[in-house]
Amino acid sequence: MTMNPLEILELDAWDPPAASVARAADALESGKVLFLPRLHFSLEADETRFLSPDWSNGKAKNISYDPVRAMVSGTDAPDADRAAIAAMMGRYARQARALVERISPRYASHLLIGRTSFRPVEITGRASSVTKDDTRLHVDAFVSQPVQGKRILRVFSNVHPGGRPRTWEVGDGFENLLPRFLPNIPQPLPGSAWLLHRLRITKSRRSRYDHIMLHLHDAMKRSVDYQRETAKTRLEFPAGSTWAVFTDQVPHAALAGQFVFEQTFYLPVDAMQNEQFAPLRILEQRLHMALA
Ligand code: SIN
Ligand code: FE
Repeated sequence: MTMNPLEILELDAWDPPAASVARAADALESGKVLFLPRLHFSLEADETRFLSPDWSNGKAKNISYDPVRAMVSGTDAPDADRAAIAAMMGRYARQARALVERISPRYASHLLIGRTSFRPVEITGRASSVTKDDTRLHVDAFVSQPVQGKRILRVFSNVHPGGRPRTWEVGDGFENLLPRFLPNIPQPLPGSAWLLHRLRITKSRRSRYDHIMLHLHDAMKRSVDYQRETAKTRLEFPAGSTWAVFTDQVPHAALAGQFVFEQTFYLPVDAMQNEQFAPLRILEQRLHMALA
């Protein structure tokens, strides 16, 4: 049996008092999904028009926003609409950041902000290749964006106007993946990390850790046996709710739903309360070598 995968917090503000989120960081780090059923991301009246898949340019699955450069991509919206989309996504980025900063003062001083995404396309039936298919359980790892051991923490908010939930499955702890998958992960080719960076396929050097996590991500999605056999729990995140999870650690699959906002953060492992839960530390201990 799986443990209870949820830690529930009945908050309705993005900047809650620190005392009300005291257990949240420990819960997240131990592999729970932090579920905030009453915390919703509110759209302004003139933003509800963006609740349509037509704003996606069809090439990317998401509309993305870079909070550092204030730039939107993944849409062909004309300039005025693009500015409104940027404002909406920027607001999500700020609110998600405020929440995570409240969760831990250690996080607040070390957190790196990544992309914001708005996902207006229905998941079910979205055509894609096996390794891009997020309806299969996986841990997150990015091809072009090495993390060098840093944690991937994501905040999601379901904004479906018709009240549809976002349906996920989550699997068992990170350690449980390793006996099945670790023995078959090949060594990186000598010089490959340098070359990938040189060719600008990666934005920085792909560490051993990134190499392993990418192989793990792909191998999990490709393994019909794992997908069938592993213990999993189905979760339904209602419209109007928010949840956060370390997606590099918790196997997850998104099965159905439409209209979600998501903010990615990167957290150095030494900013965690319990570093031993980091996939980096678990892998290093198992392989007896530094990986980042
Ligand atoms: C994922 O991170 O695999 C997708 C989650 C989602 O879009 O709900
Ligand atoms: Fe994922």
